[in-house]
Amino acid sequence: MQELEGDVAEVLIPEDALAERVAELGAEISADYEDLEITLIAVLKGSVIFLSDLMRHLTIPHRIDFMATSSYGDVTESTGVVKILKDLDSPIMGKHVLIVEDIIDTGHTLSYLLEILEHRQPASLRIVTLLDKRERREVPVFVDYVGFEVPNKFVIGYGLDFNELYRNLPYIGVLKPEIYASVEHPRG
Ligand code: IMP
Ligand code: MG
Repeated sequence: MQELEGDVAEVLIPEDALAERVAELGAEISADYEDLEITLIAVLKGSVIFLSDLMRHLTIPHRIDFMATSSYGDVTESTGVVKILKDLDSPIMGKHVLIVEDIIDTGHTLSYLLEILEHRQPASLRIVTLLDKRERREVPVFVDYVGFEVPNKFVIGYGLDFNELYRNLPYIGVLKPEIYASVEHPRG
């Protein structure tokens, strides 16, 4: 991991702070959904580490399912047009659904996802995101549970990638700008 860590400009959220906050979110969600069964929908791939830690702090019965999306347009900016690369395995009609996201940036991915999932008539539909880069929002999205608000910097680690790398870093770090020098707003 030596080479990867050399690409990190600063540790934004250390491992113990992540663990503590994820445990808090798990307790809060368990209390809010008391006596209910929920379906966690993780958006691949960035949210898998958050999902696996969060679900172990849930005391309510829950299933997991996955979706994968990609935005059309160039590699650096979300255009607001989102393509579904992998859909859910099971129907969500009548289910209590909690979307699990790694980071909300412009909000385009999530607002599109909400629209299609709402059409499937779940009993309820909420969002938990580990990170919220609120400054960059272009589309308003109401987020029910937020782990941390982060500044407008490109972050990696704990599932988040740049060019598919750095997901294994145990903390959230800021990528050195020279790593993505030619890209104004790199996309995970
Ligand atoms: P949005 O549609 O702009 O909200 O895009 C959200 C998606 O962009 C996230 O699920 C990530 O995959 C990616 N993303 C946005 N900002 C970052 C970042 O700072 N690091 C890594 N991935 C990011
Ligand atoms: Mg990504």
